[in-house]
Amino acid sequence: MEIHFNKFLLALGCSAVLICGCQRDEPAVTEEPQAAVQETRTAWVDAARLANADAEPENWMAHGRTTSEQRFSPLDQVNDSNVTKLGLAWYTDLDTTRGQEATPIVIGGVMYSTSAWSKVQAVDAKTGQMLWQYDPEVPKSWSVRVCCGVQNRGAAVWKGKVYAGTLDGRLIALNAQTGELLWEVSTTDKAQSYSITGAPRMAGDRIIIGNGGAEYGVRGYVSAYDPDSGEQLWRFYTVPGNPADGHEDATQRRAASTWTGEWWTQGGGGTAWDSFAYDPELNLVYIGTGNGSPWSRAIRSPGGGDNLFLASIVAVHADTGIYAWHYQTTPGDTWDYTAVQHMILAELEIDGVERKVIMQAPKNGFFYVLDRKTGKLLSAENIMPVNWATHIDLETGRPVETDDARYDETLAAKKISPGPGGAHNWQPMAYNRDTGLVYIPAKQEPSVYKLDDSYEIKPLGMNLGVNFWDPPGEIIELAPEFGAEFQGSLLAWDPVAQKEVWRVPHTAFENGGVLTTAGNLVFQGNADEEIVAYNAETGARLWSAPTQTGVLAPPITYSIDGEQYIAVVAGWGAVSANFLGLVLNPDGDKRNVSRILAYKIGSDIELPPLPDLPARAPLTADFGTEAQVNAGAGLYTRYCAICHGAEVISGGAMPDLRHSAMTASAEAFQSVVLDGALEDRGMVSFAEVFDQQDAEAVRAFVVRRANQ
Ligand code: HEC
Repeated sequence: MEIHFNKFLLALGCSAVLICGCQRDEPAVTEEPQAAVQETRTAWVDAARLANADAEPENWMAHGRTTSEQRFSPLDQVNDSNVTKLGLAWYTDLDTTRGQEATPIVIGGVMYSTSAWSKVQAVDAKTGQMLWQYDPEVPKSWSVRVCCGVQNRGAAVWKGKVYAGTLDGRLIALNAQTGELLWEVSTTDKAQSYSITGAPRMAGDRIIIGNGGAEYGVRGYVSAYDPDSGEQLWRFYTVPGNPADGHEDATQRRAASTWTGEWWTQGGGGTAWDSFAYDPELNLVYIGTGNGSPWSRAIRSPGGGDNLFLASIVAVHADTGIYAWHYQTTPGDTWDYTAVQHMILAELEIDGVERKVIMQAPKNGFFYVLDRKTGKLLSAENIMPVNWATHIDLETGRPVETDDARYDETLAAKKISPGPGGAHNWQPMAYNRDTGLVYIPAKQEPSVYKLDDSYEIKPLGMNLGVNFWDPPGEIIELAPEFGAEFQGSLLAWDPVAQKEVWRVPHTAFENGGVLTTAGNLVFQGNADEEIVAYNAETGARLWSAPTQTGVLAPPITYSIDGEQYIAVVAGWGAVSANFLGLVLNPDGDKRNVSRILAYKIGSDIELPPLPDLPARAPLTADFGTEAQVNAGAGLYTRYCAICHGAEVISGGAMPDLRHSAMTASAEAFQSVVLDGALEDRGMVSFAEVFDQQDAEAVRAFVVRRANQ
């Protein structure tokens, strides 16, 4: 208010002088807007400072910069007129070679980031010098208990401490100055295949952490901890447990009434593995929840039902974890349509009314705008081709499903869009307060779904209830005109009008998260091994720099000594790049080069040239009977494809089995696959599910495919 009043006086000019009682020729008395108190303690983020983040745009203090997770920076030194002068200021190599997905936090000139295998780094954000790295020493064998790779999406910083989740379910607190471990708690039961890849978030004086594991039979939940002691404050279960054990509260009882059969024997899923947002005024924590465990509802909840709170946005009270409201994006999910995707809080004028909204583009292909006080659906439109539903009914808030969408009601194979990779996945979008647009790393990734009619829970591999391993036979295409083929794009979406404003097509469907700035810019890294700046209003491509590796993580921006930097954690890999190597790495020349890269105006450091790709072992000669190869194909697809590629072509971050010397003999192959010779590098033994005959069948199939 005061600031506005002073502006008003200035605008009045002379008469303002009179009102102020000031002398002529003297500037009108104006009260300076209160400067942010200079906080000198290391990494001292607190609620007041975070609430006032726009007063210190030089810092990026939380995962989405602020608790509203907009990923919009008010910095505008780098802008649409000078971005062509942006060049590499520094780079720092990381010591892991798997997909990198972290959003770094920058405060007081220090960057706090994470890398694959849950390692945490502090880096001088002006020079790139690594100040410390903490390795929580996650057992490498944990990698078979996660669907989608060993990546980590970032840390939280609060009052001098750095927090991160670890792949094996721990929440760790480090001294921000030294990287020394202050405390750690196990947030999950280690006997079950829970994992953490998401970043913890602060909600006032509580640290919030979720988990993953819905492909491995777990029951999802979100926990809040005391950031000083690590004491657990509350826990909210995203799906109900076994009624015989007694439901935790009325919310769980209500949720249980939307399930059928013995869902608890399969865990139920609903894991919150990525996105949260926090509204300090409403004191609500927003949780994005995941798919069912197993995926197929016909198996999980055979009598049907909405299966709350799968694929939902759930608001809970930050102090207690008690349920406030929910909105389910995909009732009775059966396609892996998680709603864990990035959620953005904003104030939008809709039909003349200023609304506090929450926005999300979950995997299912629609973009939702909800009232975040009540959870009421305001609007929803599809951002990409969708053929499992025709539209969202605004009266009921429910999708209107197409006839054949529930593939698991028959045994037919059906090609459905989106597939389990989603029309939008974890890669964060960004909301620009100046243009009013949301920038979405969108994609088309259809999939053939077929019920697994011999489903049983297996100790290794994913438990989906969907048969991806047997040849599907005849495939029914749902509304093929809306089931477009693999394609990625950066999409500028008007959330009020619910329509596309511009779209930049990419060559690959899997690309990086997004940053937008007051410089009228959008930054995104991509599969083509570059980081690109676009004009936020028009989508015009303004600048790019080579990254030498595919980029998945979202860029951030900060400033030090009056210079603005754009930074990104580069490193190709993660599930799509591994599984769909045929699509994403057809020439076999992609690789992982894990690094933090930072750019500023007028700098021109060059990345060192990459060494040649390692020489490839010659192909092994074909062997084995047709029956053996076919049996091997089924086992391979079920247990190996998720890491080594559906067509035995790696996406670039995993060994390419086509050219593995280990396929040359049964002994070499079995030393890895049965005896676990490479276990300390993340390739576990499959002896629990394979015997020698199985291993030999898989080898025969891998070799056959390689020679094709
Ligand atoms: C969770 C991911 C994952 C799964 C699932 C997986 N692997 Fe691996 N595999 C790896 C990793 C990581 C390595 C590389 C280890 C290293 O750095 O040497 C590897 C290495 C190998 C190698 C050695 C390659 C070489 O030339 O060095 C073979 C052979 C292999 N895997 C076969 C298989 C087979 C067969 C299956 C299925 C039964 C399988 N893997 C399932 C992650 C996986």
